[in-house]
Amino acid sequence: MSEPGITAPDAGRGPTAEAAGGAAAEPRQEGSPDVRPPTMRPRRARASRAARPAPPASQPGLSEAPPAYDPDLERVEIEVLLEAVYRHYGFDFRSYAYASIRRRLWKRLQAEGLKTISALQALVMHSPEAMERLLLDLSVNVTSMFRDPGFYKAFRRDVIPLLRTYPFIRVWHAGCSTGEEVYSMAILLQEEGLYDRARIYATDINDVVLQKARTGIFPLERMQEYTENYIRAGGTRSFSEYYTAKYGGALFSPLLTRNVIFAQHNLVTDRSFSEFNVIFCRNVLIYFEKSLQNRVHSLFYDSLVTFGILALGSKESLRFSKYEPCYDRVHPSEKIYRKVK
Ligand SMILES: C[S@@+](CC[C@H](N)C(=O)[O-])C[C@H]1O[C@@H](n2cnc3c(N)ncnc32)[C@H](O)[C@@H]1O
Repeated sequence: MSEPGITAPDAGRGPTAEAAGGAAAEPRQEGSPDVRPPTMRPRRARASRAARPAPPASQPGLSEAPPAYDPDLERVEIEVLLEAVYRHYGFDFRSYAYASIRRRLWKRLQAEGLKTISALQALVMHSPEAMERLLLDLSVNVTSMFRDPGFYKAFRRDVIPLLRTYPFIRVWHAGCSTGEEVYSMAILLQEEGLYDRARIYATDINDVVLQKARTGIFPLERMQEYTENYIRAGGTRSFSEYYTAKYGGALFSPLLTRNVIFAQHNLVTDRSFSEFNVIFCRNVLIYFEKSLQNRVHSLFYDSLVTFGILALGSKESLRFSKYEPCYDRVHPSEKIYRKVK
């Protein structure tokens, strides 16, 4: 098994290649990604990673338009920028929540030392490196291990018994960011004796965060917080069994990712690539406008087997979606749903 952190950087490696590098080979009849790899490329080639400069630190407190900025002009400029990003790179942020996009654009604009949204547009159109920095800001990658411990506790209690009835479990983490959620669930499945029959697809729009996820290295200084989350989530062992201090961080056991396939996938523009027993999409839809949320719910509905589980973030729900009647609530407070028709 290859050591995390040493794997060659790999912008376009599809799940099949990933499987060859770590995950066990998967039977084709399970609807494997051989059918359609979820590795999605932006429309234009991106810059070589070696040449990419480190993103400038953003400056706190500056993520607002100057008071004199005309709000109508600002909106036009933002819409034109998002359209240009979509047409040139294929990343579609046009239906993301406006207030959040606006804040993030100003944050990036000021970090780049620019004065107008149009100037930011010109920069990202001509610089794939600037586009990567903007993508990191727009995609909001905040995450943590055993985030919302009550969710994991409920999952362990109410969903694991259902999963035990399946001989093979296909899991999709959509919008997995740097992978903390994926490693948390791998730990949980392992403790419940289900990991060996699981195949986990972990996808995100942003290839930079996926690269981090693949390394299995997380900040050592967050281990205390993660240990507390793990205990509150109902963990049954000592959390420190899962990692060693190495490469300047906490290196998690490669056994946790041997059945995981990390791949780029865009929930806005890409289709389903398989059928799943469980889909996690936590703290992603919150950034989307209602119309886009509905589109993604349609994608999830089509991608779930009957009686499959959909897990959303604490501030997300199926309410007002046309799919609401198709799911039962598995837990009264956690956003865990079961597709029933
Ligand atoms: C706040 S993080 C959530 C991470 C994790 N699910 C959690 O709850 O801790 C949101 C993630 O969604 C990803 N994302 C945003 N838009 C996306 C899209 N259109 N398709 C796939 N992933 C997307 C971002 O790149 C980011 O990593």
